[in-house]
Amino acid sequence: MRRKQRERLREQAPLTFVIDRLSHEGRGVSHYSADDADHPAAKAGKKVFVSFALPGETVKAKVVEVMGKYEEADTKEVLVASPERTDPVCPHFGVCGGCSLQHWQADAQIAFKQGVLAQHFQHFGGLEPQEWLPPLRSTRTDYRRRARLGVKYVQKKGEVLVGFRERNSSYLADIRVCKVLNAEVGERIQALRDLIAGLDSRETIPQLEIAIADPEISIMVRHLQPLSERDQAALLAFCQTLGWQLYLQPAGYDSVHRVDAPEAPMRLHYSLPAFDVRFGFSPLDFTQVNQELNEQMVSLAVDLLDLNPGERVLDLFCGLGNFSLPLARTVGSQGQVVAVEGSEEMVRRGTENATLNALENVQFYAQDLTKDFSGQPWAKEGFDALLIDPPRSGAEEVMHYLPRFGARRIVYVSCNPATLARDAGILAPLGYRLVKAGVMDMFTHTGHVESIALFERTAV
Ligand SMILES: C[S@@+](CC[C@H](N)C(=O)[O-])C[C@H]1O[C@@H](n2cnc3c(N)ncnc32)[C@H](O)[C@@H]1O
Repeated sequence: MRRKQRERLREQAPLTFVIDRLSHEGRGVSHYSADDADHPAAKAGKKVFVSFALPGETVKAKVVEVMGKYEEADTKEVLVASPERTDPVCPHFGVCGGCSLQHWQADAQIAFKQGVLAQHFQHFGGLEPQEWLPPLRSTRTDYRRRARLGVKYVQKKGEVLVGFRERNSSYLADIRVCKVLNAEVGERIQALRDLIAGLDSRETIPQLEIAIADPEISIMVRHLQPLSERDQAALLAFCQTLGWQLYLQPAGYDSVHRVDAPEAPMRLHYSLPAFDVRFGFSPLDFTQVNQELNEQMVSLAVDLLDLNPGERVLDLFCGLGNFSLPLARTVGSQGQVVAVEGSEEMVRRGTENATLNALENVQFYAQDLTKDFSGQPWAKEGFDALLIDPPRSGAEEVMHYLPRFGARRIVYVSCNPATLARDAGILAPLGYRLVKAGVMDMFTHTGHVESIALFERTAV
């Protein structure tokens, strides 16, 4: 945005907007009205996205961005509040870009997310599940077990910031706590700021990567220049006091090394007690962000597949085996799970986890699933059931191939309702009916929608 326009907007008084509905990412949607005295007549009908406003509310909002077809505004005052409005759980809500929906009751957030999924299903292929599953709910406020925290030394203030970016900005938010990050770390943001501020290398540390496991906690410090002995000792003393694992990352992924116990494995752990399985992972591995929800989600996925002992299951985009090992437990030693994943490192982790749990009926294979995999021996086999949990981009390339596996049931776990719906639209004409779907509270207070869908084979 040009400087002059920005200055003009800064001087402009807030305008009144009536909120009709929410956009898919959770912003209020309003329009300039010809009937509103403080709206310029020339703008009548133009769409305005109003942050922090809820459906049915009337708010005073300041326009912060003007585009050709729409404008963006921030709520400054709520004139008529929704009964679903609530007090944010975090003092930094509104400034910190980590959360966008804390002003809305959690029940309403999850109902909204189900609506978003339903609209996407409608939009792509006019689909509607035969049954909506009750949403899986999270009860913890401090649910996040992973975070990449930016670090910035602000010379003018002689301070170090540690946290997430400000909303719509590349600057870090000035936060002292994070209420959605596990409290062991979330309540220690100020302590982390003080720690880094006291280091010689405070200007050359751009990032901290946090992982909270069971029972371990790790902090990985990315640094652009070698750390002095004094700095290493200070970081180590901080971690040892708290019992945290300390990792350093001086360069790329391969440079990550453990400092608190250099000879010890670079591993943290989590368990899924319902399946009596335990997983080891390294601080940079993908793990589900909300452990309470993950436990519910894996149980639900396994239930939906309705497996019998001795059956064969294919787990695509399997990561370190989060679903594969529970599936292997469920089908028993006569059954088999084939788990496929793009990252060789995660395939090694999955194999290691199978051994850790003495599971011999699960095999992990590395394969980029966006590429032709029809020549792979596992791809020529048949399966009774199939689980798929792709990244945000979905699994368009895989969808056309899925019917060849002959699975009776397919469970699709998704972190992007648009790609889930698109892929469901591909699967429907290939003989798989969308039977059940539901949303999950994996990312409370954010616009992210985690969902699950069950497809059943109609054609034989
Ligand atoms: C949403 S994660 C799910 C991981 C696992 N199911 C879990 O619950 O922890 C998606 C996984 O897909 C993998 N992946 C991403 N792109 C891929 C590709 N093109 N081919 C195969 N796997 C891919 C990632 O490495 C990651 O492990």
